[in-house]
Amino acid sequence: MGNNKFMHYAFELAWILPSVAVPVAILVAITLTAFAVGIRVPDVAGRVDPKALSRTPPFDQPGVKELAPGRYEVAMIAQVFAFTPGEIRVKAGSEVTFEMTSRDVIHGVKISNSPVNVMVVPGQISRVTAKFDKPGEYLILCHEYCGSGHHVMAGRLIVE
Ligand code: CUA
Repeated sequence: MGNNKFMHYAFELAWILPSVAVPVAILVAITLTAFAVGIRVPDVAGRVDPKALSRTPPFDQPGVKELAPGRYEVAMIAQVFAFTPGEIRVKAGSEVTFEMTSRDVIHGVKISNSPVNVMVVPGQISRVTAKFDKPGEYLILCHEYCGSGHHVMAGRLIVE
């Protein structure tokens, strides 16, 4: 290989490497940021027929269930433009497992001051567990645009 040709390859490599490295670096940055702000990819805990929620446990009885002292399970349904149940009460220091699904379109569930931040997809059960130590009112918000009433789609979790 002549020196000229070598220089040519070296020159091309100098341009190709950054064009590969930059997208890779961006991807890594996005992934790290997602973890840093506590976005959890929900466990897909199962599948459910969105048209049969009223006869499919646990969604046939949406609400809060106390499994043991300090352990709760919440079966929650999202639909335009509300969460059922719209109000959840648990005792401070409890661990709460949410099982959620949607009756219609894709919604999102974000609970303020908690790591709960998941997509709720029709046909799919999203499961997430979080511990609530501090008493107070936590806002439950839909964070996935779902239609004209998206901005009013909210609920609350009260830690007593
Ligand atoms: Cu439901 Cu936005």
